[in-house]
Amino acid sequence: MQHHAWFSESRFGMFVHWGLYSLAARHEWVKNRERLTDEDYQRYFDHFDPDLYDPAEWARLAKDAGMRYVVVTTKHHEGFCLWDSAYTDYKATRTPCGKDLIAPLVEAVRAEGLKVGFYHSLIDWHHPEFPVDSLHPQRDDEAYKSAAAGRDISKYADYLHAQVRELLTGYGRIDYLFFDFSYKEGGDWGGKGADDWRADELLATVRELQPSIIVNDRLGIPGDFVTPEQYQPAGPMTVDGREVPWEACQTLNGSWGYDRDNLDYKSPDLLVRMLVDSVAKGGSLLLNVGPDGRGQIDPRARRTLGDIGAWMRLNSRSVYGCGPSAFTAPPDCRYTQRGDRLYLHVFAWPFGHLHLPGLAGRVKYAQFLHDASEIRTRVIDPGQKAGLTTMGAPAPDALTLDLPVQRPDVAVPVIELFL
Ligand code: GLC
Repeated sequence: MQHHAWFSESRFGMFVHWGLYSLAARHEWVKNRERLTDEDYQRYFDHFDPDLYDPAEWARLAKDAGMRYVVVTTKHHEGFCLWDSAYTDYKATRTPCGKDLIAPLVEAVRAEGLKVGFYHSLIDWHHPEFPVDSLHPQRDDEAYKSAAAGRDISKYADYLHAQVRELLTGYGRIDYLFFDFSYKEGGDWGGKGADDWRADELLATVRELQPSIIVNDRLGIPGDFVTPEQYQPAGPMTVDGREVPWEACQTLNGSWGYDRDNLDYKSPDLLVRMLVDSVAKGGSLLLNVGPDGRGQIDPRARRTLGDIGAWMRLNSRSVYGCGPSAFTAPPDCRYTQRGDRLYLHVFAWPFGHLHLPGLAGRVKYAQFLHDASEIRTRVIDPGQKAGLTTMGAPAPDALTLDLPVQRPDVAVPVIELFL
């Protein structure tokens, strides 16, 4: 398992799902969900022309949101390639768009000082040697299945390996790789996994070409970090009882690809709480955007990124380079810690005060992080009995914070404790 300081330092990245499905605008699995044939799907290829694509603006949006890396789909399950691959014609350069869409984005991301990541689908619903299985769009088409019976997965694996080599030799240093996904165990008929991809060989190639890259856990063999998807883990993630680096990948509205009519958007403050919750449990957040067929990040996604950026501008030091704390946070709060700085994130604003177990005598100074205004602290005499206007003593080792009635007007109020 490779570990890279930049990854645990960064804690927050942008995921970009973009492809022909962005034109269908009905979720990136539209070909599977609607059992579309290649012929049906050809109309998206024939009309793919993202004339408003501005990679510098995407990179800036990520930077301004406080994200430290960008991970873009080079190819998703539909099999369409956003770069000018020598191994297929099913690529952006052969559509009305006529351009390699990966090169300018990699450049723009680097220009903003952000790390570069690639998402690459192991699944390919377009490749002529990819055997039909229970996830394939033609899974119920008997005629199609019998015509496809002779497909040879090892020929597909050759294609996969060749394209990964192309991506890892054609765009300079790549910091992060997200393969997606293996499904041998899930009971899917024809499910595929490590052997089908020749995973060990592929991973060895990846490490040879990009020695400092980090790779996720979806090749069907162990990777450098695990990738819980669309849920927040209950605590630190472990493999065989050992805590491992993890990154939760999350959407803005449930769909990875642009999904026009799906308005189930998460609020910015919920997303900030998900980021904080991840860091408090030793993980990171990879937050997705699904640009549309014109190449734009839609206004609602921009606003959300802007609001998260407003919080990060004031509070990012409670995220970057932080991790879990040994102290137990009060209810409806989370702790993130970096050395002698402990950050108390208050998810539900209490009335008047908070008691922090175990911190009596351990804190030199306390302040709101958003405006550096002092928070007064005290240790209540353990013998103090609850009276008409006096509260009873909390836990003897607790430090009490005196809080204003008014909740600060930030997505999540943070109190910085100097230990
Ligand atoms: C799942 C989805 C896929 C998405 C990926 C992102 O595998 O099926 O569409 O790209 O998650 O993590």
